[in-house]
Amino acid sequence: MPCAIGFDVYGTLVDPVAVAYKLGDLIGDEAEAFGRLWHDKKVEYAFRRALMGRYEDFGTCTHDALRYCLQVYNLELSDQQQQALLTEFLTLDAFNDVIPGLQALKAQGHTLVAFSNGPERSVRPLLEQAGVLPLLSDIVSVDDKRTYKPNPVVYDYLVERTGSRKEDCWLVSSNPWDVIGGKSAGLNAAWIKRSDKTLFDPWGIEPDLVVADLVELGKAL
Ligand code: LAC
Repeated sequence: MPCAIGFDVYGTLVDPVAVAYKLGDLIGDEAEAFGRLWHDKKVEYAFRRALMGRYEDFGTCTHDALRYCLQVYNLELSDQQQQALLTEFLTLDAFNDVIPGLQALKAQGHTLVAFSNGPERSVRPLLEQAGVLPLLSDIVSVDDKRTYKPNPVVYDYLVERTGSRKEDCWLVSSNPWDVIGGKSAGLNAAWIKRSDKTLFDPWGIEPDLVVADLVELGKAL
């Protein structure tokens, strides 16, 4: 049965933590930890902005979170260096399983869209350079609703934009909070457990599927 599938972008299709490796010699072995803190902090900023009704796009959350992390790590970057680092988010590689996984899912007749907290003007060039865009039929961004996942408004918007029904619509994400958001809004949801270390929040709201990557998803759906 063909479904509409909305793929989270950062962490699911591409690796946002990789940007921190561009800090190179400045933080050395701590690049991974810096990248994780940066990602978690920008997501927290997005949640807080949504709750406060103070929407600014994900680029602002990313920049504010960078400035927070620079303080934590006691680093100084000029405005120009910060902008250069932020630009790296437009050129991230897709995870190795993404293109073969999407090809298989597309061949099965599913409708595939990107579904992101990022604005379309950032997500489109990113997915284009990563070679993912031709496999997708659309980009659905929360930016149109000026709020963020996991607000149910944006999962409803995914259903509306894909012209599907909740029972035929899947949210696919490596982020447990996103999977719980999708399930809570009444969609089906698959958790891409990209690392054995990632834990799923024990809220009693479980994913319909847990797979390691998108190739496995293609076999499971
Ligand atoms: C996304 C990030 C938050 O929505 O994972 O693409």
